[in-house]
Amino acid sequence: MTYDVVVIGAGAAGLMCALTAGYAGRRVLVVDHANRAGRKILMSGGGRCNFTHLASTPANFFSDNPHFCISALKRYRPEHFLELVERHGVDYVEKTPGQLFCADSAKQIVGLLLTECEWAGVEIALKTSVERVERQGEGMRLATSRGRIEAGAVVVATGGLSIPSMGATGFGYAIARQFGLAVTPTRPALVPFTLTSGWKARAADLAGVSCEVGVRVGRDGAALGHYREPMLFTHRGLSGPAMLQISSYWQPGDELVIDLLPGVDAFEALCAARRETPKRRVSAWLAERLPKRLAQALVEWHGDDAILAECGNARLQAWAERLGAWRLKPAGTEGWRTAEVTLGGVDTRAVSSKTFAVEGLPQLRFIGEVLDVTGELGGHNFQWAWASGVACGRAL
Ligand code: FDA
Repeated sequence: MTYDVVVIGAGAAGLMCALTAGYAGRRVLVVDHANRAGRKILMSGGGRCNFTHLASTPANFFSDNPHFCISALKRYRPEHFLELVERHGVDYVEKTPGQLFCADSAKQIVGLLLTECEWAGVEIALKTSVERVERQGEGMRLATSRGRIEAGAVVVATGGLSIPSMGATGFGYAIARQFGLAVTPTRPALVPFTLTSGWKARAADLAGVSCEVGVRVGRDGAALGHYREPMLFTHRGLSGPAMLQISSYWQPGDELVIDLLPGVDAFEALCAARRETPKRRVSAWLAERLPKRLAQALVEWHGDDAILAECGNARLQAWAERLGAWRLKPAGTEGWRTAEVTLGGVDTRAVSSKTFAVEGLPQLRFIGEVLDVTGELGGHNFQWAWASGVACGRAL
């Protein structure tokens, strides 16, 4: 079998690249070892797929080579994908400002991509594993479970390492190394934190409680990252958007510095409460500002539920510290099992930001999450998959 283009990976980036190249008249085959296309899309956004973020810019991405993503993101913007969504009559909702989700089901996004692939004449071979990829003159040769395939170009769109049960593999990194490309260290991101035994039990008692927090990473006296979003207590530790976001900055040994009353100067607020409502207890004051179960837990953890009038400044200062800068060292993260994305990946310094071709080997290309480009939470990762897929597809 001979194709102009073989795309390895029928995920977000691979399908987008395939349909773009198909419309440009290329004979395209997509191979995937999974039994369904777009499995991560199906499970994304709680089954509703947060398919883009209207305000997505290169500043929403992490990479050792931060300029790499600019060109593709500029050329294919959120409104371009939105136009495709609207053309297919998919209803959507804006949940948090800028974050667009399907109103009904993520299946509609996979359906849209497969329909476009069909219209563009793209062939898709599922349950097909690629055993070897080799250079063959100006083209490439693949050994697959369905036999040998020759292609003018191979696009590696195998994604990251998260959720191995969904078909994630390190195959894309292996191909990169085989052709002499570097792979930057990978680690799970957009992932919940686990806590050490004492704090784990406390978090478990509060499982299901959520509140808005400010969070940073504390490392050697420096503060890294900052997000103001909801945090959720779970049976294993801490989750919710604030924790998923900050996990991209966190490394083992780092502290989390959590502000339970973001935007409030807790010391001043406590001093004012002591003047105005001196007979109130700290727990009653907390319960007006935090979920009741958390307010109660805080006074129990710290063994301090004084009447405000009896609190000196030092005691109020201690409370302000606990509330404004709760320092906690996570045991770790939930790892690849639940991480939404992979930080790190194929080093982009040897890849063209215009065509996604490998320097000196234009018949080999890498797109999507397999590259060292990782977005924040909120639809940015799909925007990268669409933008890199389109840029590569147009250049094939
Ligand atoms: P993707 O992972 O989509 O596709 C890779 C494909 O390659 C898969 O089909 C896989 O089977 C295939 N493959 C791998 N190895 C192979 C091999 N050896 N041979 C053949 N095929 C192989 N992002 C976002 O923007 N909004 C959101 O709402 C969410 N939500 C979300 C929830 C959860 C639970 C997860 C795990 C992830 C998200 N994400 C997200 C992240 C988003 O899903 C992710 O960034 C994109 O799917 C990446 O697209 P790719 O096409 O690069 O990889």
